Amino acid sequence: MDKHLRSEMIRQAMDAKETSYSPYSKFRVGASVLTSDGTIYSGCNVENASYGLAICAERNAIFQAAFAGKRKIVAVAVSSDERGFLTPCGACRQVISEFADDKTEIILVNTAGKSKSVSFQSIFPTPPALNKLKK
Ligand code: THU
Repeated sequence: MDKHLRSEMIRQAMDAKETSYSPYSKFRVGASVLTSDGTIYSGCNVENASYGLAICAERNAIFQAAFAGKRKIVAVAVSSDERGFLTPCGACRQVISEFADDKTEIILVNTAGKSKSVSFQSIFPTPPALNKLKK
């Protein structure tokens, strides 16, 4: 991916983390999504007093893109306050798979802003058949 787009995605994912609403877990997450037209959408995790209703940063960002009418995800960046690299949860991987293709990239960003990329395929190798029917 273009170097400047990649650093812009990282910047937006880290910025989004700042608006995380996570009073219960105190675990801040920010995400950004690059769609096929070159637009970046971002989101943070938003928790609730009814704990199970928390929405992850990744899904928040993806739903912003979907609401804007975008249907193709080129890359997703995820940032946390961890020194290691947080990877998307299973539910988010399923949601990413709805709009991903075999080139979709996942950019993992640690608290220091250090990043590494993994292919979406490598972390979600066998999407359910239902997803395949839609493509
Ligand atoms: N969370 C995310 O936003 N993304 C992830 O990839 C992992 C978990 C959120 C959900 C919850 O608000 C908090 O982090 C603790 O699990």
